[in-house]
Amino acid sequence: MTLTLRARLLLAHAAVLATALIAMALFAGAEQRRWVEQQSRATLERTCVQMARHLPQRADWDALADSLGHELGLRVTLIDGTGRVIGDSQVAGDELGRVENHAGRPEVKTALHGQSGGASRRSRTVGQELLYVAVPVVPDGDRPVAVARLAEPLIGVTMLDAALLRLSLLAGVLALLLSVPLLYGVTGWQAGRVRDIARAAERVGEGDFSVRAPERPDDELGRLGAGINRMAAELAARIESLARERDQGSRVLERMVDGVALIDTHGHILRANSALAALLSVEPPVSGTSLSEFARLPELVTLVETARTSSGPVESAIRAWAPGPKLLRSTAIRLESEGDTAIVLIVHDLTEAERVNRMRQDFVANVSHELRTPLTSMLGYAETLLHGGLEDLEHRESFVRIIRDQTERLQALVDDLLSLAELEQPSTRLRLGPFDLRDAATHELDTVRERAQRAGLALALEAPERIEVVADRPRIEQVLANLLDNALKYTENGRVTVRVGGNRTRAWCEVADTGVGIPAEDQPRIFERFYRVDKARSRELGGTGLGLSIVKHIVTLHGGEVSVTSTPGRGSTFRFEIPRGVRAPWSA
Ligand SMILES: Nc1ncnc2c1ncn2[C@@H]1O[C@H](COP(=O)(O)OP(=O)(O)OP(=O)(O)O)[C@@H](O)[C@H]1O
Ligand SMILES: [Mg+2]
Repeated sequence: MTLTLRARLLLAHAAVLATALIAMALFAGAEQRRWVEQQSRATLERTCVQMARHLPQRADWDALADSLGHELGLRVTLIDGTGRVIGDSQVAGDELGRVENHAGRPEVKTALHGQSGGASRRSRTVGQELLYVAVPVVPDGDRPVAVARLAEPLIGVTMLDAALLRLSLLAGVLALLLSVPLLYGVTGWQAGRVRDIARAAERVGEGDFSVRAPERPDDELGRLGAGINRMAAELAARIESLARERDQGSRVLERMVDGVALIDTHGHILRANSALAALLSVEPPVSGTSLSEFARLPELVTLVETARTSSGPVESAIRAWAPGPKLLRSTAIRLESEGDTAIVLIVHDLTEAERVNRMRQDFVANVSHELRTPLTSMLGYAETLLHGGLEDLEHRESFVRIIRDQTERLQALVDDLLSLAELEQPSTRLRLGPFDLRDAATHELDTVRERAQRAGLALALEAPERIEVVADRPRIEQVLANLLDNALKYTENGRVTVRVGGNRTRAWCEVADTGVGIPAEDQPRIFERFYRVDKARSRELGGTGLGLSIVKHIVTLHGGEVSVTSTPGRGSTFRFEIPRGVRAPWSA
């Protein structure tokens, strides 16, 4: 059984108190006894001196002793100079001869030497605890008595002892009864302080650094409390700085575009950033998930295993297929610490870089392809002319005409490519100026009026008011020209309508035709370079698929949008919208 601190304190205090009381009773008893003995002895001595002084010259000494003893109520002993007892009130006369010589008794010995002596002991003669006093008797004639002795039983002292013991016990019990509530309170208070401090220490141990242990009063417990408080504050500061460092690390990790993971010896993920999960298109891992289960890319697991046995970083380009194709450059680096081999895995997304690269390759292939057709044709006709064609009066002019047309087509292609190249340059600036969008539209319509007439198409402008914009006029005209060119090119009969309008902040323009239209699945792609819905037809009409991508570039540079609505067989409407005042980054 373990006792509470309070019970222990209480018991210790009670034990100390009881010991103190017992010691006090013993000391007081001894002192009392000494004092009572001394008093009795003094009285006895006085009586004895009186008695000695009045002894007769001669007498029956034993009878005298008997009568004196009877008179005084004490034991009277008369002793001669040799220590022989010649009279004793408690020994019969015929017994006296058998009484031991008393010269050796300490009090008698002292009296024989002429001084009064005293002692207390158990009498061998009468078998009782007695206090003795012996005085010398002044020699007078031939009186044999040399020493008179009185003895008194020590009953008073013994009774006193018993009374004292009773009193002491009573006082002790009383003191205990009175002090217990006080002790109970004091020990409770001390135990409470210890409990408070212990509780504070416990809470600190659990990580609650806001608790404070009591520091008052300023004794050992108070100082212990202050120590715990200092420790808590210090711990809190350290943990906070550690947490801050950790948070910074986590923030850096989280902000990273690359996926990063730390993998332990057993292939379990200790930590991973969300970029990694996003790159692999999976849920962020719970710490302890195995890499194979998380990534579902055997190549990645193999890479990590390879890194475990190689000294430097190992790298590999890994293809992932879910949800879409991806190219991931993955690097695994071994981290050695205290016999543990952790692996840092870094995954970088190369999909976009690969896409751009492929686009560039496709572009070169497309351009070469587009150049080849007119060049082949021109070369063919030039060869024909050289090998006798010049003499063919009937056809030679048409051959030369074809060569010129193809050259024009080449020129248009090269012009478009240059336009695109220029527009795609990051440093491209618009030459902004105020102009009327309706005016620009009218101008472009005028340019194609004759061509429309020839094709039997009606042209119309619906623009109720001037639409003032701040924009790059030549480029906006290029947009209009491209849209009109398409409208005329892909419309067999019907009309082409240009509408211009705007509100306070934006201006818009629509080019609507009643032509072949564009199938819904092609609509999102027609703004791509070289994209044509019907390649043969477009090429036949001299198109290369660059017009709309130029349109899109210019409108985007103006901070606007371009869109198309079209129904195959019924016609298309192209619409672009730009802010009336262009934002700063594009302006020159
Ligand atoms: N108004 C339209 N009606 C029907 N189809 C159109 C229209 N405008 C564009 N298209 C389709 O979109 C494709 C891309 O147009 P874009 O202007 O980029 O190229 P293009 O006209 O073929 O050649 P380029 O304009 O370079 O001479 C065209 O090939 C055509 O199939
Ligand atoms: Mg075009």
